Amino acid sequence: MINNMEFVEIFDTTLRDGEQVPGCKLDSSTKLTIAKQLDELGVDVLEAGFPISSPGDYKAVENISKLVKNSKVCGLTRAVKRDIDVAADALRFAKRARIHTGIGTSESHIRFKFNSSPEKIIERATAAVAHAKSYVEDVEFYAEDAGRTNNEFLAKICQAVIKAGATVLNIPDTTGYCLPEEYGSKIKYLKENVKGIHNAIISCHCHNDLGLATANSIAGVQNGARQIECTINGIGERAGNTSLEEVVMILRQHPKLNLDTRIKSKQLLYTSQLVSESMAMPVQPNKAIVGANAFAHSSGIHQDGVIKKRETYEIINPRDVGVNESSIVLTARSGRAALAYRAKKIGYELDKLELDRVYEQFLIVADKIKEIGDKDLPDIIKASNL
Ligand code: KIV
Ligand code: ZN
Repeated sequence: MINNMEFVEIFDTTLRDGEQVPGCKLDSSTKLTIAKQLDELGVDVLEAGFPISSPGDYKAVENISKLVKNSKVCGLTRAVKRDIDVAADALRFAKRARIHTGIGTSESHIRFKFNSSPEKIIERATAAVAHAKSYVEDVEFYAEDAGRTNNEFLAKICQAVIKAGATVLNIPDTTGYCLPEEYGSKIKYLKENVKGIHNAIISCHCHNDLGLATANSIAGVQNGARQIECTINGIGERAGNTSLEEVVMILRQHPKLNLDTRIKSKQLLYTSQLVSESMAMPVQPNKAIVGANAFAHSSGIHQDGVIKKRETYEIINPRDVGVNESSIVLTARSGRAALAYRAKKIGYELDKLELDRVYEQFLIVADKIKEIGDKDLPDIIKASNL
């Protein structure tokens, strides 16, 4: 590890913010299977659910607390005494438990959701943190809709909850509204204006409504946050949450940031497929890191480059994320280099003249079908009359 490299904690909320999406609901045994894999993957914090929300979720948090070996197990609550009592109970078997409590802090949440005032919101927030603290040492406070909360008020409430015992401050861009520069500045503002901030970790929790969740989380850690809340495949409310695999690989591919995570990246593809299959939530083929096309090359120019040297068109070694190898896909846009490469892989070594003949025949077939597979190649070669 490079001298001054720092770790960013990965807080996985696949089983809470991810699982609450319609269609993603899991039965309790599948929730346990995924929790076990997230623990294996190396997430620092595993948000197992929202215990007060249903008896099933309470049970899931309780069972996950018994099962998980390394990650901290976290349960979500509102700033409501009963929520916190139930969460503490569900987490009682966890080796390391965290209660995640909080309240809306933006003007619209305070006025329309709570019909309250900023002062009363601070009172509720500090009371909730103090109550959670009576059960566990590790208390995370979320300022819901922090993305649209005035920075001065946000700093005020953060300072008050740190005083009440919060160990982590979650700054959610709940509606996915912020621009990266804006979100980064918000974190910087808190670092510079909250008394006692060195006693807490700032956490990024970004939603993807404008496709900026990953960029905003990275802006957050560049400005001093040291935890990212994310989900496998970026699943979550509406357009989803920050995608775990993306932030992990961004930090790993950019050592100049001097930030890394403890995630075992070789397990990323497996974990992605497990979550996708369990939730019947397909991963888009062009999804960064784990999509089916993330390491597939189909145009002739790119294929030629990759065959000569993989790094010409790939910035990540596929093996680093659990993909066996890059793929050279044969379509009507492929060139001779790709055809020769794929033919060789199945035992046909073609010289230049042979390749020209086979390529002509290949294009005739490729114009008719989407993709040429290994099983089509022998027929194409035979039909080329070499
Ligand atoms: O998006 C959000 O604000 C949340 C909080 C409950 C942490 O998910
Ligand atoms: Zn969220």
